[in-house]
Amino acid sequence: MSSVETLTENPVAVSGDHFVEVNYDDRIPNNVALSSDKQLQRALETWRPKYLDWWNDMGPEGFQESSVYLRTAVGVDPSGWAKFGFVKMPEYRWGVLLAPKIEGRTIPFGRHKGETAWQEVPGEYRATLRRLLVVQGDTEPASVEQQRYLGATAPSLYDMRNLFQVNVEEGRHLWAIVYLLVKYFGKDGREEAQALLERCSGQEDNPRILGAFNERTPDWLSFFMFTFFTDRDGKMQLAALAESGFDPLSRTCRFMLTEEAHHMFVGETGVQRTIEATCAAMNRAGIKDPNDVEAVRKLGVVDLPLLQRKANFHISVTRDLFGSEISSNAAETFSSGLKGRFNEANLKDDHVLADATYPVMRVADGKIVEEQIPALRAINARLLDDYIADCQGGVDRWNKVIEKAGIAFKFVQPHKGFNRKIGEFAGCRISPAGELLTEDQRLAQSGAWLPNDDDMRFIDSLMNPCREPGKYASWIAPPRVGINNQPGDFEYVKIY
Ligand SMILES: [Fe+2]
Ligand SMILES: [Fe+2]
Repeated sequence: MSSVETLTENPVAVSGDHFVEVNYDDRIPNNVALSSDKQLQRALETWRPKYLDWWNDMGPEGFQESSVYLRTAVGVDPSGWAKFGFVKMPEYRWGVLLAPKIEGRTIPFGRHKGETAWQEVPGEYRATLRRLLVVQGDTEPASVEQQRYLGATAPSLYDMRNLFQVNVEEGRHLWAIVYLLVKYFGKDGREEAQALLERCSGQEDNPRILGAFNERTPDWLSFFMFTFFTDRDGKMQLAALAESGFDPLSRTCRFMLTEEAHHMFVGETGVQRTIEATCAAMNRAGIKDPNDVEAVRKLGVVDLPLLQRKANFHISVTRDLFGSEISSNAAETFSSGLKGRFNEANLKDDHVLADATYPVMRVADGKIVEEQIPALRAINARLLDDYIADCQGGVDRWNKVIEKAGIAFKFVQPHKGFNRKIGEFAGCRISPAGELLTEDQRLAQSGAWLPNDDDMRFIDSLMNPCREPGKYASWIAPPRVGINNQPGDFEYVKIY
């Protein structure tokens, strides 16, 4: 479908040859009074067909005509934000939704702490805020691009639907950030909105801004690891931005977080179901040793050590997204009141941090040590620590499944310094257990710590589509409950 057809689908007035007014309250679910802000409407009107072109070119490959059982957010109250129904993805109603305004909200941290939250962009912070928005916004279309080929190898219609749900919601997150850019940053914002559609994941001359978003997501294990570990970085960043003194950003992020929860659910349960299938197959075959990889692979399931290597890769690449642990830029965005800490409101300190310190792990004199650093400069280190703690809940739940099955294996998060390219441990050779290594030691072990060629070939051999309603590929167990409580044989995607 061309973008013009989509645009004219709900015309409220057609005058002259070219001018088509779209009923934005119909087309774009919103709670920002879009139809009364002509300038904003015009900006989004110009951007929307380009977004649709991007979606058609770079979004899910091959299923744009299929009907997908998706939830659409049409409002921010509990009854409005999860309307389920069949929709073709290009016709998804990407909305602009902000969490409700909190009357009398004040800036919760930094040098402006206690002042009334800003409804407009403070002039002195304009450039920093714009950069924060662009960096966050850039990750949203990037993940859609990374995941675009996965539909073809979905292990079930249920999983295919979950993939597309994540994809359309990342698209909506892009809308959310573009709304802020075009509403509050004039011409600069419109240019940034355009550039967000032009950068491209993995492309050499115009890549996405952050490293992890230029990695490939070549298979479903990567997808599940990505949505568990990397979408969780999204959660942490959004939570920190939800504290922002710039109120429209805070409200935008608060609503995005409700969607992020589902992405992490898809990741956590995806890995968990993979583990379940492995453990069940091992027990049926009487295989007790999780390291008997050859025997396990013959069963058409993923051996647990491989899953650990996959996790090691995604964990370490995602930790790099937090930036340098010690950062004067992060100190400044915090002190300015633009980006807070995770759970800022519940932290029991003065929220200004002029004299506080924070322990940061680093390498000094050939040893890994912990040093007290001024807390302001350690904002990124703290967010990373909070992230690692947040990941552990899911890892523990995965381990429970293995324990219940009576198999002796435990997933662990690698040491903070393992395989890092950014920050205190960049270029250091550290094992998952936290030992400093020589280059020879690292090279000798890297195939045991990160997915090796053999692993990738094996995973590839499993990635065969399974499209019969209610059926699942050998390597993954069915979910316990259907989406929106649908029955087991529900046809989540009607493929045309
Ligand atoms: Fe997102
Ligand atoms: Fe996400």
